[in-house]
Amino acid sequence: MKTFADSVVLITGASSGFGAEFARQLAPVAKTLILAARRTERLESLRDELARPGLTIQLYTVDLADAAATAAFLQELARGDQRVTLLINNAGLGDHGLFEDCDWPKVEQMLLVNVVALTRLTRALLPELMAARGAVLNVSSVASLLPLPTLGVYAATKAYVTSFSEALRAELRGTGVSVTALCPGPVTTEFFDVAQRAGNTDAAPAPAILKVSAQLVVATALKAVLHDRARVIPGWLTSVAMTLASCVPMFLMRLGMSPPRKKK
Ligand SMILES: NC(=O)c1ccc[n+]([C@@H]2O[C@H](COP(=O)([O-])OP(=O)(O)OC[C@H]3O[C@@H](n4cnc5c(N)ncnc54)[C@H](OP(=O)(O)O)[C@@H]3O)[C@@H](O)[C@H]2O)c1
Repeated sequence: MKTFADSVVLITGASSGFGAEFARQLAPVAKTLILAARRTERLESLRDELARPGLTIQLYTVDLADAAATAAFLQELARGDQRVTLLINNAGLGDHGLFEDCDWPKVEQMLLVNVVALTRLTRALLPELMAARGAVLNVSSVASLLPLPTLGVYAATKAYVTSFSEALRAELRGTGVSVTALCPGPVTTEFFDVAQRAGNTDAAPAPAILKVSAQLVVATALKAVLHDRARVIPGWLTSVAMTLASCVPMFLMRLGMSPPRKKK
């Protein structure tokens, strides 16, 4: 994409965090924002905040962990006369703690939202994105770049997102559709409240020095889409840290990877 002017943007997970910030930064230039999440009242207040003449904002209340609801959402989108030119697959959640203690419904929800819904939306919207020579922005994480004990399933879902984005990007070369994987480090949003398990207080596993703002993450990501970049890690310190980490051989990384086990 050369510009976001007159774009039709679908943002999943627009009710908070990065998703709401994507909407804020695109609202001044986009033609249509299609905002999807479960919390309708959050979407409505965002619509009220961003309303301006010339901008259409459509809201969809959808649980992306629910296959039937996702199918109905896609059907409703297809019935409309707007064709998406930028798909931002942002909705996602984490789960922090030992795998042996995890709550299956939450893990399943994470797999369904982070992996299945993202893949399904991309597949469904690809024809119109190809017709528009548009763009896909998949919100992954630095967690996708290395295994993370106590965030094991989350990191694995994001490894899927980064890998899938790279492969799809390669497949789409020459079609005019760009695919970008956004790999942020830790950012203060509602993410850590959701990732936290009942009774735990330690779901902020990365050093505070690596934290950047949601505004910076989103601005960096949108710039990366305009420059057709494959992958972007916002924040220079996080980027350097991840580059260094990628040079450490796995057999050495394993030595420092095991979290201390609390006695039950
Ligand atoms: N914050 C970080 O440190 C960080 C770092 C790297 C990557 N990320 C990634 O960034 C993305 C956005 O996270 P965030 O930090 O902005 O966290 P957030 O504030 O918790 O936002 C998550 C968004 O996902 C939506 N969502 C969750 N489950 C959903 C479902 N079943 N159906 C529809 N929407 C659902 C939520 O909306 P509803 O609850 O209203 O449905 C919310 O809008 C996620 O993919 C996350 O993995 C975050």
